[in-house]
Amino acid sequence: MSVSLKPMTTTAFVAVVENVDLSQPVSSSTVAELRSAINRHSILVFRGQTIDNDQHVAFSRNFGALEIHTVKQYLLPDYPEIIALANRGENGTTPIDNGGAYWHSDISYKIKPPMGSLLYSLEVPPDGGDTLYADMYAAYDALDENMKRKLEGLRAIHGYAARFEKMGEGGKRPQLSAEQLAEVPEVNHPIVRTNPETGRKALYINEGFTLGIEGMPMDEGRALLDTLNAHATEPRFIYAHHWRVGDLVFWDNRATMHCATAYDTQYARTMHRTTIQGDTPI
Ligand SMILES: [Fe+2]
Repeated sequence: MSVSLKPMTTTAFVAVVENVDLSQPVSSSTVAELRSAINRHSILVFRGQTIDNDQHVAFSRNFGALEIHTVKQYLLPDYPEIIALANRGENGTTPIDNGGAYWHSDISYKIKPPMGSLLYSLEVPPDGGDTLYADMYAAYDALDENMKRKLEGLRAIHGYAARFEKMGEGGKRPQLSAEQLAEVPEVNHPIVRTNPETGRKALYINEGFTLGIEGMPMDEGRALLDTLNAHATEPRFIYAHHWRVGDLVFWDNRATMHCATAYDTQYARTMHRTTIQGDTPI
């Protein structure tokens, strides 16, 4: 049986997958269809799932080896492949109210940033706590020809330490250790990224981790990045995912960025994320 994909009518870079039960092993042909689907749609939404940690990890591994996040305080003790975004904490993990409340592509500050992320919701607040996604293929396509020419060959500088420090201003974030800092030196990636499987071009910058542009004065680079971020987050490129318990969203980090929205933290919010390793951006 082939996978049933329902693209969203207003945001075709998002498709709902209707007939795949993630608690069961999926066939190699289903995996191949989903791989092809993520290249076409960038975001796949699976509703009404009931999966345990083993099933989450097993399904994710169909798409590549899994990343272990630098900040070990958020990893489930028995499942280091799973980062717990839980405002009450979970099994001793550090509580996190709203990780990623700024536009970013997960872990873009690594030499080989992750291809995708799979976020599964276990507890959600009644309102808010949504995730906004930006379609970076569409954002690139919509640039005028002058800007496309200007961006050719430019590389953005990505880093984690500055962002982590900023997030710590609320006092809830732990400090990065010297060892953790050594894992995340600044790296450069092309601003226009090509999907090697399809040849499609996407803007590959984000508010969270891009600091400047290689070979450009910092303020000039920052100004260009601000312009590109403002463009990419125009409403015409955005999908807002309102989470229900049992949703799993699989997104392509090469072609989207995302941003968490606020909610009333008197309500519990528990999400689990696995992250699929990727290639050096070209
Ligand atoms: Fe994220």
